[in-house]
Amino acid sequence: MSETTDKIYEYTSRNIEKAAEIIRNGGLVAFPTETVYGLGANVYNSKAVANIFAAKNRPFFDPLISHIADINFLERYAKVDQKVMALAQKFWPGPLTFVLNRIEEDPRIDLACSGLRTVTVRMPRHPVALDLIKASGVPIVAPSANRYQSISPTTAKHVADGLGDSVDMILDGGACTVGVESTILDLTSEKPVILRAGGTTKEAIEEFLGTTIEISSGNPNQPTAPGQLLRHYAPQKKLSINVNNPSEDEFFIGFGNLDGHLNLSKSGSLSEAASNLFAFLRAADSQKQYPKIAVAPIPTTGLGLAINDRLIRASHSR
Ligand code: TXA
Ligand code: MG
Repeated sequence: MSETTDKIYEYTSRNIEKAAEIIRNGGLVAFPTETVYGLGANVYNSKAVANIFAAKNRPFFDPLISHIADINFLERYAKVDQKVMALAQKFWPGPLTFVLNRIEEDPRIDLACSGLRTVTVRMPRHPVALDLIKASGVPIVAPSANRYQSISPTTAKHVADGLGDSVDMILDGGACTVGVESTILDLTSEKPVILRAGGTTKEAIEEFLGTTIEISSGNPNQPTAPGQLLRHYAPQKKLSINVNNPSEDEFFIGFGNLDGHLNLSKSGSLSEAASNLFAFLRAADSQKQYPKIAVAPIPTTGLGLAINDRLIRASHSR
């Protein structure tokens, strides 16, 4: 791990311009979104997109999300119908990502789509991200700015610690407010399916559509979304979940009345817990005197679904 905090730049219009120029010229810029920090590149520049996979050590079969700043761009990218547009109007900008059928063969985005016939798109709810996309003039593909299968970054410093050597610039937008990744909604068939629980709750989407939505647990050996891999988002140490009585060798992350060395949310707020989750897992990993990590039970409703999903994957043994 190297300290490359000199690549961190504050949010000014000048730095947005500088970052946009790097994106247009095929470089990599890490930027904040409301969920986690992303590692961004120009979707139309295959070399830059390839560099994302290399920097993260991510397999090429794992497609990337395109980030856009204008709903109307969707129609140039993907097959959309009324339902898709209504969902976009309702939930964008925000932590909801759509998997859609591609509109036509545009070989320039093949790599970002991992050669699939689908394209994955979202509009983030963060001024830095939106300004950067607008200034770049192209959709920006961005996975979470961490190495493959490790903990996603929720501050600029996390990015510098993990990927500082591989990025040209890191835009600092403070700590991410949502703290878990976007919900991924597959809209390629008649029935929408959630491929990854995330920052937009299942309940909110169901209420808007007036139907129940299934969550695809996927086949972990052949994941549709590699977020469906059993081990993902993982700290270095062994992690136990749903723990009420931690042992002495465990760094305990509490929730609500069940206090620990840290508490995800004393008041029992799931949104506060989500925003603290990844930073606390990192903190727990760095506490040398505790060889293991334990986390208190978290309710499985609302954002709790995404929190539990990440914890289950983080707890899966190598
Ligand atoms: O909140 C987020 O979504 C963050 C911020 C930066 O936008 N991004 C993010 O990207 O989490 P990433 O690449 O770390 O996770 C995206 C997930 C991956 O598990 C990928 O496999 C899945 O989305 N995915 C992307 N395109 C897909 C597709 N066409 N079909 C199925 N899964 C797809
Ligand atoms: Mg990720």
